[in-house]
Amino acid sequence: MAKAKTVFVCRSCGTEAPKWIGRCPSCGEWNTFTEEVVVRTSSIAETHFSSGNVTPVRLHEVDPKSQPRLDTQTGELNRVLGGGLVRGSVVLIGGEPGIGKSTLALQVALAMNNLKVLYISGEESVQQIRMRADRIGRTNENCYVLSEISLQGIFTHLQNLQPDILIIDSVQTLQDETLESSPGSISQIRECAGKLMKYAKETSTPVFLIGHITKDGTLAGPKILEHIVDTVLLFEGDQHYLYRILRASKNRFGATAELGIFEMLHDGLREVNNPSEVLINKNNEGLSGIATAATIDGIRPFLIEVQALVSTAAYGTPQRVSTGYDVRRLNMLLAVLERKAGFKLATRDVFLNLAGGLRVTDPALDLAVIGAVLSSGVDKAITKRMCFSAEVGLSGEIRPVGRIENRIREAGRLGFTGIMISGAYEKINMPGKELIKVIKVNRVDEAVKKLFREEE
Ligand code: TYD
Ligand code: MG
Repeated sequence: MAKAKTVFVCRSCGTEAPKWIGRCPSCGEWNTFTEEVVVRTSSIAETHFSSGNVTPVRLHEVDPKSQPRLDTQTGELNRVLGGGLVRGSVVLIGGEPGIGKSTLALQVALAMNNLKVLYISGEESVQQIRMRADRIGRTNENCYVLSEISLQGIFTHLQNLQPDILIIDSVQTLQDETLESSPGSISQIRECAGKLMKYAKETSTPVFLIGHITKDGTLAGPKILEHIVDTVLLFEGDQHYLYRILRASKNRFGATAELGIFEMLHDGLREVNNPSEVLINKNNEGLSGIATAATIDGIRPFLIEVQALVSTAAYGTPQRVSTGYDVRRLNMLLAVLERKAGFKLATRDVFLNLAGGLRVTDPALDLAVIGAVLSSGVDKAITKRMCFSAEVGLSGEIRPVGRIENRIREAGRLGFTGIMISGAYEKINMPGKELIKVIKVNRVDEAVKKLFREEE
């Protein structure tokens, strides 16, 4: 056995150094170096794709169709993967603890009942996995489960079982016995992921790796893994809300703009094929303080309800609280309202909330935020069935946003009869006869006048 050696490894990017350093010279992060004991009998560099029987082939002779994508039987996941699971690819599903990664993985394992799936958990016993499966309420005769953390043990089982799909929950629990460092350390994660990557490529087996990330990103793993794996999916959401968003932050086989939406129910995750229908509440129509925005996240348009409450400040300094929307941007919009529309907010509290606990950064929400704040401020509901999609600039100008046609179409599809947008578009290419009326505005004060017009 080789001599034990300790190195200092950056938790963030995996850079190694012989001694402790305060700031990583490679990624610039502070205080990320940890000491690790490593005994190397092999390294990824030596084991990675080292089989000698691979020969170069002419690119045009490679048949792209020989490896069709697998249908995961989960439409939202297929969408984020770029149209299904590519054979031999390694997909990392990262997310905070408790967000639903294990549930998603098990649900996919149970749904793909025409394939042999091996679900390996280093965190739960097989009984616990069974309880979860019962909760989800699906069965799959071809789904095998295993509670194991040793990488060598796992490879033995893989050889015997030869599954069509492998799921590892989670990569932080894996232990390569040729290394002395503990599970979850950077060298373990890197080595295990490298070997699983090699396995995936050599056997054309798709592998899902689950990885935990904490809010401050201090836990080792996913950041280093990102460089190794083919696809990185992030599972996000607020634990207090039901909606979960799956987005690709890296994808060698598809676009990263796609977005999958799920809802966590008592019996597992439900796919939300039509996000708009859950993010806007028809019963809220006619209430003050509510405005609907036509937004786009990734490449998918949807409508979302913006709720505002404006009330007299009880204490000296008014409060500005925002959930799901950047509070600095809210402050900016309030200043614009004050200066450009003469709406006095200096002594009032403003609370803002986006439906479903979603976080949206699309600037097209600006006009809806202004609408909701005004509507609450004057306690008057916005014109029925009207929505908004425009950015608001510092001088109160209403600016155009990207892919307006998709937004208008989605609003029309959901039964909205009016959409307020910027007047700056030269031409809007709308095929067919949309029933929705497009209301163009150029300045905030102009928009304000049109908010309640039909009601007067
Ligand atoms: P889990 O998949 O264990 O999260 P992760 O693997 O990302 O740590 O899911 C955790 C939460 O989901 C847990 O608080 C319970 C909840 N949950 C449901 O609400 N419904 C269900 O059907 C299941 C299986 C879990
Ligand atoms: Mg889990």
